Amino acid sequence: MSPLKLAPSILNADFARLGEQVAEAERAGADRIHVDVMDGHFVPNLSLGATVVESLRRVTALPLEIHMMVADPDLFLDEFVAAGSDSFLVHQEGNPNLHRTLQRIRTLGKRAGVALNPATPAASLDEIVEDVDQVLVMTVNPGFGHQQFIRTSLAKIARVRGLIERRQLACEVEVDGGIDVETAPLAVRAGATVLVAGSALFGEKLGIAAAMSRLRSAADAALRAAEAADQAALQRS
Ligand code: DX5
Ligand code: ZN
Repeated sequence: MSPLKLAPSILNADFARLGEQVAEAERAGADRIHVDVMDGHFVPNLSLGATVVESLRRVTALPLEIHMMVADPDLFLDEFVAAGSDSFLVHQEGNPNLHRTLQRIRTLGKRAGVALNPATPAASLDEIVEDVDQVLVMTVNPGFGHQQFIRTSLAKIARVRGLIERRQLACEVEVDGGIDVETAPLAVRAGATVLVAGSALFGEKLGIAAAMSRLRSAADAALRAAEAADQAALQRS
């Protein structure tokens, strides 16, 4: 089994067939479902609310991961928990009480993660990384699907991975935005272990299952190559 996790983002799904598409992603081996919540303030777009999560909860056993792109995530936590959410990714930016928000998520019995926009430095995790289960490195500016992967975020992924390893934390490094067969291997080589993908899975003509297996093979091959390179470096030293 691959140590890499795939988290299909439903933002680019066909909402008229959302249940079917999520069930297909589950059958094809998705590890969790990534749900993008946008309020038109934190990002210039609207997406969906807790009622959609409630419906999804009835069609999938997979963990539902909620990416909160909203100005005040605290306002919505209770209703998303009641709807059946399993984890929350909240943004570092614009949250003066980030620590409190994360503590509340954990008190509610859910996994907590912090998300970083492209312009937010990895070093900003210093005071919070021990309080989270996952870090989400945004590899596009949040708000829309189908954007181009920002290459400079690769160095940030590596910095986040380094910070986590130095402290020997079990925290996951997740990437979100522009992830496809070309960019997933780069993100994995930089240290990502969870890949969010929207348009590369739901927008593909070849179908969700085939798109997932293609993405997973590309990512797994990159992981094996990175491990072999580490091994070779170790033997040289
Ligand atoms: C963007 C969202 C992403 C989005 C990714 O703000 O956070 O989860 O759905 O879509 P793609 O994979 O198309 O970039
Ligand atoms: Zn997202």
